[in-house]
Amino acid sequence: MKTAIYPGSFDPITLGHLNIIKRAAVCFDKLIVCVLVNSEKMNRGLFTPEERVELIRKVVAKLPNVEVDCSSTLLAEYARQRKACTLVKGLRAVSDYENELQMALINRKLNPRLETMFLPSSTKYTYISSSVVKEMARYGADLTDFLPREIIEDVQRKMDSRRDS
Ligand code: PNS
Repeated sequence: MKTAIYPGSFDPITLGHLNIIKRAAVCFDKLIVCVLVNSEKMNRGLFTPEERVELIRKVVAKLPNVEVDCSSTLLAEYARQRKACTLVKGLRAVSDYENELQMALINRKLNPRLETMFLPSSTKYTYISSSVVKEMARYGADLTDFLPREIIEDVQRKMDSRRDS
């Protein structure tokens, strides 16, 4: 059984992420979407890791071979625990590549059985990132072209509660 992991911060999951999930899910027996800690973004999260998992679950509910999880371990170690041989990463632009290449090499150093596969982002979604979505939500913009419809209200509600507190 070929298991792959699609790791990320997913704060929150966007239409760009969902596009990568759907395309990767057809290539493997099982795809695990895993919410992990990005130490560079640690103190500026909108959703907790558990909330992000819930949002992703809502969005992938109809994809039978996609599982959602979260972990606070190193990704290479998590892949070993889950017997996964491949990491899937989406690339939106050449500028993503430098950092992703470094992470791919580190992950393979830590777990020599682990390969990283890059999927180019669909041109329709190259400009979307969770950060841009949060910025738009902060100003009350329409999020239809950015987020899966199942979670738009959750994101708007969360942003409103942040604004009120
Ligand atoms: O969506 P992001 O923020 O680009 O995802 C980055 C993420 C979470 C995949 C990356 O930071 C990660 O793998 N974090 C777990 C810790 C780890 O294994 N770091 C890489 C080796 S130092």
